[in-house]
Amino acid sequence: MATKVFPNNVSLVVLISGDGSNLQAIIDAINNDQLEAEVKAVISNRSTAHGLKRAVKANIPTHVIDHKDYPTREAFDQAMIQIIDPLQPDLIILAGFMRILSEHFINHYQHRLINVHPSLLPKYKGLNTHQQAIDNKDSIHGSSVHFVSHELDSGPVVIQAEIAVLKTDSAKDLAAKVLNVEHKIYPLAIKMFAQKRISFDGKQIQLDNKPLKKPLRWKNDKLTEIN
Ligand code: GAR
Repeated sequence: MATKVFPNNVSLVVLISGDGSNLQAIIDAINNDQLEAEVKAVISNRSTAHGLKRAVKANIPTHVIDHKDYPTREAFDQAMIQIIDPLQPDLIILAGFMRILSEHFINHYQHRLINVHPSLLPKYKGLNTHQQAIDNKDSIHGSSVHFVSHELDSGPVVIQAEIAVLKTDSAKDLAAKVLNVEHKIYPLAIKMFAQKRISFDGKQIQLDNKPLKKPLRWKNDKLTEIN
């Protein structure tokens, strides 16, 4: 049988803390040949994270590194680095990873550390983003895929997805709608990185060798703006 050649194959390590539905979307995109990537390992800081089961089912090696076993944030991050570095991933993917990372970790993986955050950044950094959108009577909410910088939930945004907020929506409804678009934009952003269409030099994202002036926008199931 002919061997498949993957010119745009990127290797990933995915960090999770919970359900791992974004991890699943990445696994599905790879299995459906929409994304040329390999998940080398999944690391969770919680042994009960459902995402670990998803990884095992997909034959991906898993590691539990419980932050409670380490005296400092730096020591916890160093334990992750010891797992990640030998794998030499092209990208480290934060997918519902609910720990603040140390400066050392962020520096160590600068240019190749990305996150998905459930808001239209710079709006609503931190937690409870869906409730904040409701409390502020926003009509549009969404999610952002961004490179990670030192400030929490900051760093240049690659793609933002918008969802409409209905007056009847609860925070739970918004969380479900946001996850639904995240499952599209996160694999897409990784794909653009794999295709070398997107890169990050620590300050500026480049798209097709030109500075990305504003985030790509995902609306009604497609990218609506490119630079
Ligand atoms: C996602 O909505 C993600 O944006 C959010 O947690 C959820 C994880 O879902 N991340 C953050 O809030 C990080 N600041 P998942 O475990 O099903 O992928």
